[in-house]
Amino acid sequence: MEFIALIGDHPVRLILSNPLKEYRKSDIRLISGDPDFYQCARFTETQVFHFNFAIDKLHEFLMKEFSHYRQIDAWGEQYIWNLKRTKKDKILLSKKSNDVKIDVGPHNRKKSYILQDEVIVPALVDLKIMDEKGNVLPSRYDKFKQINRFLEMIEDVIEKEDKTQWNIVDFGCGKSYLTFIVYDYLTRIRKLDVSMVGLDLKADVISACNLTAQKYGYDKLRFQLGNIKDFKSDRDIDMVISLHACDTATDYALNQAIRWNAKIVMAVPCCHKELLHKGDFSEVAMIGAYGLSKERISALMTDNYRGAYLEKMGYNVDMLEMFDLSHSPKNILIRAVKTDRKQSQKSKDVIEQIEGNLKVRLCLGRLLEGE
Ligand SMILES: C[S@@+](CC[C@H](N)C(=O)[O-])C[C@H]1O[C@@H](n2cnc3c(N)ncnc32)[C@H](O)[C@@H]1O
Repeated sequence: MEFIALIGDHPVRLILSNPLKEYRKSDIRLISGDPDFYQCARFTETQVFHFNFAIDKLHEFLMKEFSHYRQIDAWGEQYIWNLKRTKKDKILLSKKSNDVKIDVGPHNRKKSYILQDEVIVPALVDLKIMDEKGNVLPSRYDKFKQINRFLEMIEDVIEKEDKTQWNIVDFGCGKSYLTFIVYDYLTRIRKLDVSMVGLDLKADVISACNLTAQKYGYDKLRFQLGNIKDFKSDRDIDMVISLHACDTATDYALNQAIRWNAKIVMAVPCCHKELLHKGDFSEVAMIGAYGLSKERISALMTDNYRGAYLEKMGYNVDMLEMFDLSHSPKNILIRAVKTDRKQSQKSKDVIEQIEGNLKVRLCLGRLLEGE
């Protein structure tokens, strides 16, 4: 079949279009991995389905997939290919030289995002990142990429868990843009059974978010008025999210997560004040000498302390770079996954050095040590 020549040109991307019936488009991309593989995103009117398959299965995959379409456009190492099936089932194949040389080396392959353009995510439309047809607006592509990056950071950890049902709490949810996107991604795209609660102190924000959840048809996402420290759950919580909850509100969120044994924690702390105001910097001039740098270093030390306490409680901790929708300079995401690991000497040292040198026990330490 005509696929053979096309496949021999090692395509990095193939788009199947002009559908016969229920599908809209299939977009197949070469993804670098160990080993490399292809990922197909098959679009229907309302959904996208993903399939991964080995490179040597491309021919087999195309044979089946192409039965739903009349056209393939493909980008190979040397040629751009166009394959059409006529109404009389005749196959027409053409190719033209691929002037832009495609380097199929692992670092240059086109990135496949978790959210695909053309799959409508209502919150992205309301944020004016996407138009009503699901096209990402060129001027908002950076934001789209950043949101994808955040979802990847969640995906990285949930895909290792053998779980289809997730209970998630978002502490200090505020206007909840990312909450809506995360819920949409996990339920509609990943097809997980997710119950999610967003909690915040502001009544107007909570009622607006409940209306939005209704408008989007998210029946297991609800918003509740309350303080993190008083929140009680009637079910086991698997994931705690807390993005830019102010100052020690993050510590209350982490304390709840740890006490629930939540499997995953995603926290972006913000407005760090406690260590700056309560720490005794008199004997550590290298930190306390200058105002702004003292403020920045004490914020970073606070997050190290939080990371170390999470490790002490059996979590594996990564500090990742996070973006922010509201332009805050606070952009460290603490991602923690519960394991049965023992506390490392490094994390003991972090806690001892901060508490010893700056003569203060911070909020998370006090909460966890029952003070
Ligand atoms: C800067 S906003 C962040 C909102 C949202 N998570 C985001 O990243 O866009 C912080 C939110 O945390 C809420 N908050 C702060 N302390 C809280 C607490 N103790 N309990 C519940 N919500 C809290 C505030 O009301 C505010 O809406």
